[in-house]
Amino acid sequence: MKLIEVLNWRYATKRMNGQKVPKEKLDRILDATRLSASSFGLQPYTIFLIENEELRRKIQAVAFNQPQITEASHLLVFSAWTNVTDERVTDFMKDVSRERGIPVESLSDYKGRILGSVQGKSAEGVISWTARQAFIALGTALIAAANEEVDATPMEGFNPDALDELLHLGEKSLRSVAILTLGYRDAEKDPLSKSKKVRREKDKLLVTLS
Ligand SMILES: Cc1cc2nc3c(=O)[nH]c(=O)nc-3n(C[C@H](O)[C@H](O)[C@H](O)COP(=O)(O)O)c2cc1C
Repeated sequence: MKLIEVLNWRYATKRMNGQKVPKEKLDRILDATRLSASSFGLQPYTIFLIENEELRRKIQAVAFNQPQITEASHLLVFSAWTNVTDERVTDFMKDVSRERGIPVESLSDYKGRILGSVQGKSAEGVISWTARQAFIALGTALIAAANEEVDATPMEGFNPDALDELLHLGEKSLRSVAILTLGYRDAEKDPLSKSKKVRREKDKLLVTLS
């Protein structure tokens, strides 16, 4: 399928049929997610792949009992860093140094720019920024799933405090910001599977200034 066809095919699936997504498809979706753009390239978030069934039921309980959480093949939780520490940025500098074959010492200005930008933000401002980066990855994952003809539901309908507690995110300086289910639609049970897509009209959404 071509990209526009793929994007018309996908929808936020409310009911899934429990069928498993093959490993090679899941791997490609995760690889694409990893390739997401982010500010400075820092990727200030951590993604959890939840395989434990009991944990999934517990997550469902703090997510308004939305059925796709347990009917999905796989569940991802996107969590944003609540602080951008020297250690986290140093790890990134080591990645840059290794991948590009440049000495880590030569990256000190780059590191300083990242830390300087974050230090100018309030605690709320940091999470707002890291969460925005995580949402770019969420968008990439959605498109990648559709490209594999795998259904997905992006979700903010959950209690983040309760989810953080379940996954012990606070102690890892993380905050849950979104869930993504991956699986296959149950067209019988999901009336939305046949609903026409609704989007704002192009001339209202997009303003051309020429
Ligand atoms: C950040 C975000 C959070 C969402 N949260 C939920 C959710 O908790 N449960 C749900 O069923 N759909 C959720 N949706 C799906 C939207 O309702 C859906 O994307 C929107 O209505 C557009 O329809 P479509 O994606 O099916 O084309 C969410 C979508 C986004 C992008």
